[in-house]
Amino acid sequence: MHTKFLAMVVEEHTDKNFSRAIRERCVDDLPEGEVLIRVRWSSLNYKDALSATGNRGVTRVYPHTPGIDAAGVVEESRSEMFRPGDEVIVTSYDLGMNTAGGFGQYIRVPAGWVLPLPEGLDLRESMILGTAGLTAGMSVSALTHCLAPDKGEILVTGATGGVGCLTVAILARLGYSVTAVTGKEGAKDFLEGLGARRIISRSEAIDSSGRALLKPLWAGVIDTVGGDILATAIKSTHPKGLVTCCGNVASPDLNMTVFPFILRGVSLVGIDSQNCPMDRRKAIWQRMANDWKPPQLDSLCREIALAELDEQIDQILKGAQRGRVVVNLGASV
Ligand SMILES: NC(=O)c1ccc[n+]([C@@H]2O[C@H](COP(=O)([O-])OP(=O)(O)OC[C@H]3O[C@@H](n4cnc5c(N)ncnc54)[C@H](OP(=O)(O)O)[C@@H]3O)[C@@H](O)[C@H]2O)c1
Repeated sequence: MHTKFLAMVVEEHTDKNFSRAIRERCVDDLPEGEVLIRVRWSSLNYKDALSATGNRGVTRVYPHTPGIDAAGVVEESRSEMFRPGDEVIVTSYDLGMNTAGGFGQYIRVPAGWVLPLPEGLDLRESMILGTAGLTAGMSVSALTHCLAPDKGEILVTGATGGVGCLTVAILARLGYSVTAVTGKEGAKDFLEGLGARRIISRSEAIDSSGRALLKPLWAGVIDTVGGDILATAIKSTHPKGLVTCCGNVASPDLNMTVFPFILRGVSLVGIDSQNCPMDRRKAIWQRMANDWKPPQLDSLCREIALAELDEQIDQILKGAQRGRVVVNLGASV
């Protein structure tokens, strides 16, 4: 198939700088895989911005098309599991890392990465959720498994970011009392609209006393930022409380003692959505399409065309995004 399509292409230059541009590509040049998908929607995640700026921990070889999320329609399939016309979602695995990703109008991937669009979501909604939604869902799943809403307040960090805002909205929908940490002034209305009961600043969320244990404040914590905010949150978690950890936008370091774990029985649960097995993904997506679906989905996203991605990538790297950015691959470029 010699079909041409448009994609963001990130290129490495001899001076070690990286540039990105929208270029024409050919379906013949896509990697091997059983399923060719015409991408209708994608979304912007922090990892995409790392790939788009030459981060070797995410993408080893350039030129490359980022985009760890894609939703669209099957165009060709060599797998019995999918037929042309099926509406499907692909998130993470290797998509957008070292496999040409959702910032292009076509992707070709192994059938094992492809998930039928769950009933209860349309393609656009599935990308408002995207990897951020899967990660929020996995974090909520770990927390709700151990803690009922009456156990006390739940702290959510990086609350206006993609994973954070979806987590706030899901927990509020489930009846949990959520305290949101944000670095953004003027985010009060946004976070209250998602259901946060209380909002605190990043400086209030960081303890600098150096104490190994702090006054217990949180029944549970969903952390998306790492570093001192995560360490402070763990030290401030109730006995038998649970903390999830998925991100490192603040820092990958965790400077603290083991005392919250051995004296209070606090659990720290790591969240890895990239390697989440397909059965588990399907189960989380089912919840996200039904009883966990945030009612505010539309109001927490901004829709852009492929050509507008460039500036949004700079914004997310600065920690300046609020909510989710969905990319309309059908919009004129
Ligand atoms: N483990 C996994 O499976 C998985 C999956 C998805 C994402 N992630 C990771 O989770 C993190 C969040 O991803 P995302 O897509 O939600 O990113 P995002 O949309 O950029 O959100 C991150 C938010 O964190 C806050 N933040 C930014 N810089 C900060 C800093 N220096 N100190 C404290 N807070 C800061 C900001 O929210 P406020 O302004 O409201 O504070 C920002 O909006 C990233 O590290 C990402 O790589 C991991």
